[in-house]
Amino acid sequence: MRKPIMAGNWKMNKTITEALDLVRQLSMELKDIKDVDILVCPAFTALHSVSQAVEGSNIKMGAQNLFWEEKGAFTGEVSALMLKDTHCEYVILGHSERRSIFKETNDQVNKKIKAALKADLLPILCVGERLQEREDDKTYDVIADQVKGSLADISADELKNIIIAYEPVWAIGTGKVASPEQAQEVHAFIRKLISDNFGVETAQGLRIQYGGSVKPDNIKDLINQPDIDGALVGGASLKAEDFIQLVQACSIED
Ligand code: PGA
Repeated sequence: MRKPIMAGNWKMNKTITEALDLVRQLSMELKDIKDVDILVCPAFTALHSVSQAVEGSNIKMGAQNLFWEEKGAFTGEVSALMLKDTHCEYVILGHSERRSIFKETNDQVNKKIKAALKADLLPILCVGERLQEREDDKTYDVIADQVKGSLADISADELKNIIIAYEPVWAIGTGKVASPEQAQEVHAFIRKLISDNFGVETAQGLRIQYGGSVKPDNIKDLINQPDIDGALVGGASLKAEDFIQLVQACSIED
């Protein structure tokens, strides 16, 4: 059985004070949950404070991006080692907002994944089709391209440390969630793709999160799908009450 992982992608939200307030509520309310991995991904500026606040709790922390070089003249960028230094364990890479607003390519995402792995950070690789691509029946081509391109030269062994998040772009922040069947179909496709390229065992162990307008009222149907192993949550992760409910919904002990 794959352990579900619920991650809050806070995006460019929350000052340090606000971040601490949220994470303290989460760690108090979720302290007894052991069968779900719980992850928060604050902005860079809050990482250090949040890591101190979650120390010793069951809440893990991730960043939302990194730059692949180790150090040097790259004004405004943050390296994998710097993230490790704040006690980050995970890093979201290739999010659709990075791909569309900041023009990140699969090749660049691939370099970032390699840099993350080298620094012992666990990458969450995001993939997903746009609305036009879905309407043109190109969903599987786009996903295959993103998965293969972003994972170029990665070994099956390394893949054990990677999570994939399927986030249809048309569902992110729009309130339009993919139906559980639509999501399951793509998740199964990704698992098959990984199986064909990295072996059955690796594919069976891979955790694939769904992302895109996940809310307390739709999480149950999503998480009940056989190939959905958790969620990457944007908007609903900013409110303690919602995120607590989302995590609790994925716990069978609850
Ligand atoms: P959303 O964002 O939950 O607000 O749709 C998801 C994401 O971008 O990871």
